[in-house]
Amino acid sequence: VTPTALERYLAVRGRTLELVEPLSAEDCAVQSMPDASPAKWHLAHTTWFFEIFALPKALPGYRPFAPAYRELFNSYYNGVGEQHPRAQRGLLTRPSLAEVRAYRAHVDDCMARWLERAADPELLGIVELGLQHEQQHQELILTDVKHLLACNPLRPAYREAPLARGASTAELRWHAWPEGVFEVGHAGRGFAFDNESPRHRVFAAAFELASRAVTCGEYLEFMADGGYARHELWLSDGWRAVRERGWRAPLYWERSGGAWLVHTLAGVQEIDPAEPVCHVSWFEADAFARWAGARLPDEVEWELAAARAPLEGGFADAGRLHPAAAPAGSGVQQLFGDVWEWTRSSYGPYPGFRPLAGELGEYNGKFMSGQMVLRGGSCATPAGHVRATYRNFFYPPDRWQFSGIRLARDPRQ
Ligand SMILES: [Fe+2]
Repeated sequence: VTPTALERYLAVRGRTLELVEPLSAEDCAVQSMPDASPAKWHLAHTTWFFEIFALPKALPGYRPFAPAYRELFNSYYNGVGEQHPRAQRGLLTRPSLAEVRAYRAHVDDCMARWLERAADPELLGIVELGLQHEQQHQELILTDVKHLLACNPLRPAYREAPLARGASTAELRWHAWPEGVFEVGHAGRGFAFDNESPRHRVFAAAFELASRAVTCGEYLEFMADGGYARHELWLSDGWRAVRERGWRAPLYWERSGGAWLVHTLAGVQEIDPAEPVCHVSWFEADAFARWAGARLPDEVEWELAAARAPLEGGFADAGRLHPAAAPAGSGVQQLFGDVWEWTRSSYGPYPGFRPLAGELGEYNGKFMSGQMVLRGGSCATPAGHVRATYRNFFYPPDRWQFSGIRLARDPRQ
């Protein structure tokens, strides 16, 4: 049974509140770095999206819950107006968490009144965009809370249940694709962001794609082989990042005696060599691939493989919130879920790309500078949120997302 628009709205909005359930008011208020936002800010900003972009059209005469929120919880929409500085979101001890929850309840009441009798397809499209936006922030709540808790010497866990582990690593195999002209990108029915369109033809040279993500065990070999000390493995900007930032291991790894430990949302654990490595920057992914005699896939190669794969994997709804070892099996595994996979494609417009009209045109298009594309979703992504054409993007040094590595290579001559 397909849920009604109202049921879907309430389900997504309710899921966000579930995610902050394990957090205290203090946990929700603090900002651990400029890239990460407090959970309270995420709760308010996702609400702001509906209040700014949907409610004025849905309920004529709608009066904002609190006029000051227009600026406080505006992320980056210059068309809407000024924005409270991103790096100072953690200074907003007011409004309180209770006031932000009341803000959510108020907007939800108004949205529900409209959704009960909603018929305007254009406005329903904006509501769906708001829900997809909220799901993106659900993932950010988890990655931002993970970073925050990792900054605490007590190393608190977000969820207390320990991670099940001990699976063995599926052998890495290579799958070959012939050269050809293919179609990629979104077309047809179903939600997609503007940056996934239009569907268009591309030429792809023959390539090979690894059957699963790179594991922690494989990454430890790279480290043991001097991976972080050998300039020849790194791009110039990457080598500078290694030196300036003192990188010696993925984010959240720490040395204890002879072993490596990792901070997870379930607290500090021993590294499991069978699990996919994650929280690596694009620079680290690129250097690892070079060390392995391979390269990162480009986004077309990744999408050609994913278009044939079932849309299933380790997503947030499973509750593990940590990547799991690839199951044994034939075919290309783990394309969806577990870890976002860095590609070697820079994030740019497809031929014929047109941003959404109006202020929502700022959603994706204006970020097409200096970022790299990641594909496939992660263990922190809500199930059902991603698809084969989905394009995520982050800056090359970014490490706090669940970002991992899949290898590709050119066929042997
Ligand atoms: Fe946002």
